Amino acid sequence: MREFLDQIRAAVAARTGIDVDALRLERPREAHQGDVALPCFQLSKALGKAPLAVAAQIAEQFAGTVSGVTAQAAGPYVNFRIERALLAKSVLEHIAKAGPNYGASNEGQGRTIVVDLSSPNIAKPMHVGHLRSTIIGAALLRIFQRLGYRTVGINHIGDWGAQFGKLVAAIQRWGGELDLEQDPIRALLALYVRYHEQEAQDPSLAEAARAAFRELESGKEGEVRRIWRRLTELSLAEFEKTYRRLDVRFDLVRGEAYYEPHLNATVERIQRAGVTEVSEGALIVDLKTVDKTMAPCLLRKSDGTTLYATRDLAALFLRWDEFGFERCLYVVGAEQKLHFRQLKAVLKRMQLDWEPRVEHVDFGLMRLPEGKLSTRKGQVLFLEEVLDACVQEAGRIIQEKHPGLAQAEQVAEQVGIGALIFNDLKRERAKDVVFDLAEVLSFEGETGPYVQYTHARLASILRKAPSDWRSIQADLAGLENAGPILLLLGRFPDVVVQASKTAQPSEISAWLLALCREVNHWYVENRVLGVEPGLSSARLTLIEGCKAALSNGLNLLGLASPEEM
Ligand code: ARG
Repeated sequence: MREFLDQIRAAVAARTGIDVDALRLERPREAHQGDVALPCFQLSKALGKAPLAVAAQIAEQFAGTVSGVTAQAAGPYVNFRIERALLAKSVLEHIAKAGPNYGASNEGQGRTIVVDLSSPNIAKPMHVGHLRSTIIGAALLRIFQRLGYRTVGINHIGDWGAQFGKLVAAIQRWGGELDLEQDPIRALLALYVRYHEQEAQDPSLAEAARAAFRELESGKEGEVRRIWRRLTELSLAEFEKTYRRLDVRFDLVRGEAYYEPHLNATVERIQRAGVTEVSEGALIVDLKTVDKTMAPCLLRKSDGTTLYATRDLAALFLRWDEFGFERCLYVVGAEQKLHFRQLKAVLKRMQLDWEPRVEHVDFGLMRLPEGKLSTRKGQVLFLEEVLDACVQEAGRIIQEKHPGLAQAEQVAEQVGIGALIFNDLKRERAKDVVFDLAEVLSFEGETGPYVQYTHARLASILRKAPSDWRSIQADLAGLENAGPILLLLGRFPDVVVQASKTAQPSEISAWLLALCREVNHWYVENRVLGVEPGLSSARLTLIEGCKAALSNGLNLLGLASPEEM
């Protein structure tokens, strides 16, 4: 597909003398207008004519230059159309050759993308915000990898802060009653809540908590640190269960505590830049010169302890020094917008020219409708329960639609988890996600199961095809009415690039949904098997290309593509 666009631009440039870089092709607003459009507004100057006249001139001069491509002026646009058999040959051959690597390129070669993702807090259950971060972050990692970037996925575990003083003190006080083997996170959470409540009546508890955190920050190797370390290990083991089901791996698991040894150097680095000041005993960076309304960034409290932001700055400097990243993406909910604006503002005040490479990839809330999976007040929702509910429901539907399916359990896991992931990635990430079990698992509509089911349907057609169909010369002229499908297939490499630029996995999901709609529509009107062999072979080639591309896109988002479901 790209080669046609390049040929078109080269031909127009050669005929008109316009610089090829000034020729920007876009998608026509209406599909019937053409395959690609050249808007002529910007070209008026170059040719000294009004856009309408420019379009007419280009269409006329283009005629006959690129074989198989025709041009037509429509108002201030030139619309180009690529002959279907030619388009089919180019696109389908490309997919067949690239296989699972269709859409891959090496444009990112030699450059590194750091993605900060998931980052739950220890001693608490991972919540739906962390789930969104995990799903979006993992998709972005795969998208960048496909484009040849080196990626570093970092899980910035929340394992530091005054709350752990409280928890350690609680364990010291009541730990004997605690069963940390069975369900450690639930037990710890209950313990924390209990301590928090009793603190109000007994101020000595608050003091004990502060003392424990002071000891933790001092770096002393004693009981406090031992307990804290155990908390971390127990929590990570719990998180790992969710990661395994989502098939997510990290390159680095570095909790906030990891940066403890770097904190002094970090604060000094910022001080040396001359942007710190002391305010009410605390060390701060004033950010009003960056944004009048922005609160200062607190680096060190008056009692000497550091903060979330200090540790994030330490992490960021280390990432820059270690990876010299092209972009460092923080996949974190929109509620932390101010925090990341402040981090960037500190970099700006330090006049670090790599500040624009740091991006907050924010996302909206995930809302659960009232009902079985809702979080009632004071209760937390355990992610494992959400995942289980999805898989169970998927299993039920599959059993109903396809009794006796081989490996039904594995497919249920793939469909259930896939439904959850797709529901998260199907809209721009800033939008809130509503999680409705019946809706996300529906086989129709904009869902993961719908895309997976379309894929399985194509697989089933290919299974039924005569075994020798590939040796029969395909009559590609028979794909005349498959234009929309071919164009979508051809666009995929650009869709992946676009998803990387905007850090929007929804570019891929929207493309997948569009392709499914077109394929399902086309399939109703075009028989694939039992027609003239050359025609059948052409249609099977198309089906095979679509199947490969669907599986490809699903894979980028983190969904499996079962052959049967
Ligand atoms: N642990 C934090 C939370 O749960 C998220 C951390 C995000 N990453 C970061 N580098 N700040 O809110």
